[in-house]
Parts: sequence; structure tokens; C-alpha cells
Amino acid sequence: MTTESSQQLPAFKGLVQETGAAFAAPADQSLFSSMRQAGIDWPVSCRNGTCRTCIGQLVTGEVAYDIPWPGLSLEEKRDGYCLLCIARPLCDFVIQRT
Ligand code: FES
Repeated sequence: MTTESSQQLPAFKGLVQETGAAFAAPADQSLFSSMRQAGIDWPVSCRNGTCRTCIGQLVTGEVAYDIPWPGLSLEEKRDGYCLLCIARPLCDFVIQRT
């Protein structure tokens, strides 16, 4: 009998709309980190959700944030805009540049 000391969180599938680049996106790390690990270029600066350099728009999918109010308006969030440096995936997703 074996016991698991830690549970592994799921990795979702991410896709960049413009290039078709696909990558694994673990639920416990930012979309930007997953893209970087896959060798995908994406603009980034502050990495804390304030400068908006990394902004993208979800074509499909959903994300969550660890901070209560990232640098996006309610309307932008409704329209699928997200800050990839701090957004974590909740499911498979497609992202596009803005
Ligand atoms: S890099 Fe600044 S908000 Fe993401």
C-alpha cells in the first residue's frame, strides 16, 4: 500500500490563437510562467498585475487570480481580458494577443 504525501494539481491545455502554439498550463502557476517554460514569447514587465504589459484576451476558458482586484476593469474581465503574469487557469483555454 502506498500513500500520497502531496496531491498534484491538474495541468490544462493552453493554446495561443495567432500562432497555434500549444503548452501545458498547470493550475498552480501563471499562464505566463507556463508559456515561458514552453518557450513561447509573451511581453512581460512587472509580473505582479499592475503594469498591464502582459495583457491578453481569452478566446475560450477561464482564469482565477490570487489578488482580489488585478489591474483590469470589470468590463475588461467580462470581455475575457486577463493579465497573464498573475492569471492561473481553471480549465483548457485559448488566448490571443491584444
Ligand atoms: S507584467 Fe505587469 S501586469 Fe503582467
